[in-house]
Amino acid sequence: MKQTSKSETAIEFFKAFNNPDARKFVLWTMQKNYLEGILYHHPNASTLDHEAIKSKVQILIKVIFSELLSISDNPESLYSLLIQLGRKVDNRQDFWFQEFDEAYDNYKSQSKLPIMLDIFSNQLATLNSVIDIGCGGGDFINFIAQKYPKIQAAGADVLDWRSQSVQDEQLFDFYLRDFNKSDSELPDSYDAGILHAVLHHISSDDAVLISYLQNIAVSVNSLLVVEDILYAQDDLKLDIKGIESIDTCRKEQGDFNQFLELDINTQRDIIIILDLLSNSLAIGVPDMNFPFGARRLTDWKNIFINAGFKITSMKCLGFQPNLFHRMSQTYLVLEKL
Ligand SMILES: C[S@@+](CC[C@H](N)C(=O)[O-])C[C@H]1O[C@@H](n2cnc3c(N)ncnc32)[C@H](O)[C@@H]1O
Repeated sequence: MKQTSKSETAIEFFKAFNNPDARKFVLWTMQKNYLEGILYHHPNASTLDHEAIKSKVQILIKVIFSELLSISDNPESLYSLLIQLGRKVDNRQDFWFQEFDEAYDNYKSQSKLPIMLDIFSNQLATLNSVIDIGCGGGDFINFIAQKYPKIQAAGADVLDWRSQSVQDEQLFDFYLRDFNKSDSELPDSYDAGILHAVLHHISSDDAVLISYLQNIAVSVNSLLVVEDILYAQDDLKLDIKGIESIDTCRKEQGDFNQFLELDINTQRDIIIILDLLSNSLAIGVPDMNFPFGARRLTDWKNIFINAGFKITSMKCLGFQPNLFHRMSQTYLVLEKL
């Protein structure tokens, strides 16, 4: 990941957080998503008292927001505050609660991977080889290797975050690579490279992102991308197979519909707040510094063309129901030009 300093990240975060429309939307959507996430993913969901969980979630989010507001003129305090507020820290604050942990653990270990796999399943059925670029902990490519044993599976990342259990299973080849560098070519070439929630953290600078994609292109024939995407009116009219899925999502998801009614800057601010808060609080990585590179669909399309790829189809996923952390996500299938 291109190094962004922590103070740059904090300043960008508070620029977004100080947008009242973005803050209001995130407060509302986080309360809704956490409540629905707990009620859906808890191992004993039917025994839960809905009103009690709702009140615990409201307190959780309200306290976090009021703590963040209290330092909003003081961005350099962001990281020390996030460390105090995180779910996974020693001596964590008592607004976190057991039902949250139980539901989240169940979600992470049982239900998240099948939901992710479902997005890629049409393409995976046609592939002989696939590499997960920016595979992080490796759980997803490991799961693909389990479900599609005939596919040659690999993962690559600039850091080796793989868990011990994933390493022990040895179901996929792993390559340590920095795709910002031109010497990142892989020993094999793959039918497809997966880029799941990676590109918006690479750079806000289009030229850096284009070179990153060109370095990957040396080793893959196509790309399967899941990204946080912003939509202005013009984007809704682009000539891309599957563009009508945006309308379908809008009809099915009230939160996505409301998101699309906001201007692009507010959409971007919402994604910045959601991205940083979900990673630092519930997931438990409080010490994050990264560029926030959410872009409009038109911008992504142009970046891909400049990197030698065209979007052959898309499926809008929106604020996917049953995810704990919902964003404005879209699945894009890319072929080389
Ligand atoms: C937000 S995480 C997403 C991880 C995983 N794909 C997922 O969806 O859970 C981004 C991943 O990209 C990796 N990454 C960032 N910059 C990279 C680079 N220049 N080359 C290779 N991997 C990179 C990071 O180490 C991290 O594991």
